[in-house]
Formats: sequence, C-alpha cells, structure tokens
Amino acid sequence: MRVAVTGAGGRLGTSLVKQLTEATAVHEVLAWDLPVHNLDDPLSSRRLVTLHRPDVVIHTAAWTDVDGCARDPELAMRRNGTAAGEMAQACVDAGAAMVMLSTNEVFDGRRTDGLPYRPTDCPNPGNPYGAAKLAGEEAARAAYGATWEGFAAAAGSGETAGLVASAAPALAIVRTAWLCGLPGLDFPQKIVAAAEKARGAGQTLSLVSDEVGCPTYAPDLAGAIVALIVEWSRPGGRNLGGIHHIVNTGRASRAEWAREVLRLVGIYVTTEDVPLSSWPRPSNPPPWGVLEPTPLPGGLLRSWQDAAAEYMKLITRRTEAGR
Ligand SMILES: NC(=O)c1ccc[n+]([C@@H]2O[C@H](COP(=O)([O-])OP(=O)(O)OC[C@H]3O[C@@H](n4cnc5c(N)ncnc54)[C@H](OP(=O)(O)O)[C@@H]3O)[C@@H](O)[C@H]2O)c1
Repeated sequence: MRVAVTGAGGRLGTSLVKQLTEATAVHEVLAWDLPVHNLDDPLSSRRLVTLHRPDVVIHTAAWTDVDGCARDPELAMRRNGTAAGEMAQACVDAGAAMVMLSTNEVFDGRRTDGLPYRPTDCPNPGNPYGAAKLAGEEAARAAYGATWEGFAAAAGSGETAGLVASAAPALAIVRTAWLCGLPGLDFPQKIVAAAEKARGAGQTLSLVSDEVGCPTYAPDLAGAIVALIVEWSRPGGRNLGGIHHIVNTGRASRAEWAREVLRLVGIYVTTEDVPLSSWPRPSNPPPWGVLEPTPLPGGLLRSWQDAAAEYMKLITRRTEAGR
C-alpha cells in the first residue's frame, strides 16, 4: 500500500509519517507539505495524486489557526473547504481512498444535555474554521457520492459501511479535538509556560472552566488512523468509510486539563477558574466540544489522562536535556 500524508510536517502529520513508515502493510509513505502541496493552489492536489498514484491519501493539511480563520473566512474556506474537495475529487479520479481530518468545531457546542456529539448528530458550526471544515467534509462526500444519511449512519458502526463495495475506494472522515503532541506549541506547553511566568511573578493563573472537550494525543490518533487503513487494505478487510470520531477517552474542561498537566510536571502555582467569556477571541470556540469516540479496528483510545502522563514525561525529558 502506498500512502500519502498531506500536512506531513504538522502535529498529526509527523506522527502519521513515523507510524506509517513502521507499518508492514505500507510499502511507501509519501510525505506532502508546503511548498510541494499547497492548499492555495487549486491544481496542487491533482498534480501530486496523478503523478504518484497513492492508494490512500490522509489529508491532514489545514489552516488550523482558528482565530486567523475568523479574521479571514474567505481564505479559511479556500484552504479548509475548497481544497479538501479538490483533493477528494483527485483521489476519486485516481481510484484512491481518502481519510480526511475534520474537527469537533463542526458543532457549535451549545448543547446542554451533557451528551457527547455522535457522527449522526447534525453539524452546525459556530465559527468560520468549523464552517470551512464542514464545507470540506461536504465537498469530499459529494466527490465520493456519499449521502449524508447513509454516511453518518454507517459511521463508527465497526461494520461494512455499505456505501461502496469493499474493494472500491472509500472516504473516511475523522473528526478529532484538542490535539496535543510535538511538534509545535500546544495547549499543555502553553500552560506550562504561563504557569512558570505566573509563579515567577507571584501571580494567580487564570484557567477557563466552562469550555469542555476531549484532549487528544496526536500519536494515539495517528495509531488509530493507521489501524483503520491497514484494516481497509487487508484481504477481506472491512471498508471503514464513514464519519469517525477519534479522541482519547474521557472529557475535561480547559482548567482540568491544565491542572493535570501542571500536576504531572510538578509546577505548583495558585490558580483561579474563569469563564470562557473572560477571554474574548475573534473565534467562537464550542463551549461543549465533546465527541463520542466511535469503535475502530484498534479499539478505543486510552484515557486522556494516561496519554497526558506519557506526553508530559516526554516534555520533561526534553526540557531537562535542553538545560
Ligand atoms: N489541532 C487541533 O486541536 C485539531 C482539532 C481538531 C481537528 N484538527 C484537524 O486535524 C488536522 C491536523 O491538525 P494539526 O494539529 O496536525 O495541524 P498543524 O500542526 O497546524 O499542521 C497542519 C499542516 O498543514 C500544513 N499547511 C498549512 N497551510 C497550508 C497550505 N496553505 N498548504 C499546504 N499545507 C498547509 C502545515 O504546514 P506548515 O507547518 O508548513 O504551515 C502543517 O504541516 C487538521 O486538518 C485540523 O483541522 C486539529
């Protein structure tokens, strides 16, 4: 199996390329990123797919600056909506399967019944980033000829999706949330830096307690996606097309996530809970961004706390090595 990864140098892309390289079912990994793959160029995806003929494309490339997307919704739509559709059409024309990364922000997060969002729940984005990612989902579904009802109902059932015959190219939309992991500056690293600064200045660290989501460790998500495409490629393997929600299990507020991170790295600082409304931002994050994880070949991911423990050990080792 020849697998291409867009956004190959990003947080998820880096883990995907590493794990695909180690997977025996994968014979070649094509790592695509700027400038070779450019979401601003309408022909970029087609050129690459036509030239390299991958069996599967994992499309992680996106403009992930949600506040930037809110300031320039048109560019957000180009990069996260239209470009995803172009990649999907190029894959369909080349007979390739596609895994498209999407987000919990396709939901506005305003539900108050305490239930996590399922793939069958109707999306309703509350900001331009979510709207553009949803447009990307819709464009990809249109390219593969998948209807919303059949697509959502098949999702996460762990059974053959029933949209396309098992040997035919298929589309899987993978929604995730609150990604952390190297490379790049993520929420745990920002919290550690903010806590050190607050401690040094003798100040209290403010933590948002009414924004809730699913902290997700990028290497865990990458492992689940690799398991999904390996199952696809196995003789007699299931076609796992559909919408999948892949997050570490459990949920947390930003404040709970931050306190766990600080506990794990051993930073003690006075904290206070504040509402989301006290952090005005161009973007409107979903206050309740909780996804229900869907069952996949590798099973559910471990808890976010177990993942955080592993990740914070890595961060601590890295910091000590840098001293
Ligand atoms: N991060 C989250 O919390 C989160 C949550 C839910 C869903 N997701 C989704 O998961 C996927 C992976 O997220 P991530 O955190 O790994 O993102 P990331 O670290 O920001 O990586 C995004 C990748 O896309 C590339 N990219 C950006 N603009 C591009 C352009 N114009 N043309 C081509 N490539 C471009 C980036 O390249 P450069 O580094 O060179 O700019 C980078 O390699 C995305 O589709 C995102 O929407 C993320």
